[in-house]
Amino acid sequence: MALDLFLEELRRPAAGEARQQRLYRLLKQAIVDGRLGAGLRLPASRRLAVDAGMARNCVLHAYQQLLAEGFLVADRGGTRVASLPTPSRLPPLVPASGVLSRRAATLSASSRGEPTLPFAPGVPDLNAFPWPLWSRLLQDAWRAVGARHLAYAEVGGEPVLRQAIASFLGARRGVVCTAEQVFILPGAQAALDACARLLADPGDLAWVEEPGYPVARNTLLAAGLTVQPVTVDGQGMAVPDALWRERPPRLLHLTPSHQYPGGSVLALERRLAFLARLVPGEHWLIEDDYDSEFSHARPLPAIQGLRPEAPVVYLGTFSKLLYPGLRIAYLVLPRWAVDSFGQALGELHRGGQAVEQRALARFLDNGRLTRHLRTMAPIYRERQQVLRAALVLYFPGARIAGGDAGLHLVLHLPGRAPDTAIVAAAAGQGVAARALSRYSADGPGDNGLVLGYGMAEAAIIPELVRRLSVAAAQAEMA
Ligand SMILES: Cc1ncc(COP(=O)(O)O)c(C=O)c1O
Repeated sequence: MALDLFLEELRRPAAGEARQQRLYRLLKQAIVDGRLGAGLRLPASRRLAVDAGMARNCVLHAYQQLLAEGFLVADRGGTRVASLPTPSRLPPLVPASGVLSRRAATLSASSRGEPTLPFAPGVPDLNAFPWPLWSRLLQDAWRAVGARHLAYAEVGGEPVLRQAIASFLGARRGVVCTAEQVFILPGAQAALDACARLLADPGDLAWVEEPGYPVARNTLLAAGLTVQPVTVDGQGMAVPDALWRERPPRLLHLTPSHQYPGGSVLALERRLAFLARLVPGEHWLIEDDYDSEFSHARPLPAIQGLRPEAPVVYLGTFSKLLYPGLRIAYLVLPRWAVDSFGQALGELHRGGQAVEQRALARFLDNGRLTRHLRTMAPIYRERQQVLRAALVLYFPGARIAGGDAGLHLVLHLPGRAPDTAIVAAAAGQGVAARALSRYSADGPGDNGLVLGYGMAEAAIIPELVRRLSVAAAQAEMA
């Protein structure tokens, strides 16, 4: 009976799969599911070939493969199904809720799955990317490397790039470090994950900015840390004294040069106050300097440079300077932590990308970078100005924040339709604003929109803002 049903299934027409492969797959599945029970004798190959309308060789090969894999056994009586655990002994395959870990459930709940359309924050102008230069640097790098560069990379990354980053940071961000202190990782997210695992333990407390970068919050949560949102005002993270006394952090994640998303700059007094509190072995401050390359005002130098021996880890990425898909970011550790961090990192993470890293080192050298920045800075400055002007026109009276650096602005819309509703309506108009309220960990935050202008050409910005205002009106009427 079971065999008849199986033969019926086998005879059903099936396009796109070789017969031998199909026989092998169906037979194996029927055995695993228990539809063909242990000891059942299979038809002789010649008969099955006639029954199923296939060449005998195909049947022989399928049987041989399943014999070799242990699903079938052969004896004098012919070919039989092997005696294997039956499904009644296997767990039931009923998808239950909570199939992933509790951490994964937290991450899925905050997933926004938002499209990358104009106004999506965090993306530079990929059309203005210096294609010819970058492809030439990659080709040169491929010509210069040997077989050893295809192996796992040295912990920390390619020495030439570590050196180039150390010089670049010294010149542009006031970071005081040597190449050995620089550790290259595949993106800021991976770098944050490494910090969460190597600088703190599960259950330790991490302070994050409120509102803040959801990816940082989620990465710390996923590494088992307890996250404490700390409110940000116009001068960056504002820490009440009592919080330092009662809930001191093991880890602090800050975006001091250009707070994400609000755009404030952490005031010098607050920088010094943090430095005065930080004790090696007790605290770590992660200085996430994710977008200060494109500064429209004079940026404050990095906190790291104020006291290079403090427990501060400087974090930078090439996602804005070049392109996010490059996945190259870096951490700068204090000198006293370099050896132990490097050893532990080597166990957690295997590096690669030698060719891209060597090409990037040459991009940072020889004034190429300066030329690229000189080309891009006025483009972004203009987009920012056009965006501001359009927002003033279409959202009269609304407060606009940020924009001294980086590639995004915040439009505050208190008392207007919920920002999530505006965002949903705007997506229908091909505009990808982000809802400010979703950047808060403690329930919905301020109502407003986060608008990235990296990808939006100046000429189309007024039209995009007009569409946004239509979306806001639609959301208000809904
Ligand atoms: C605060 C912050 N850090 C880091 C990043 C991105 O880094 P990466 O692309 O290297 O993961 C972003 C991107 O928007 C960001 O906002």
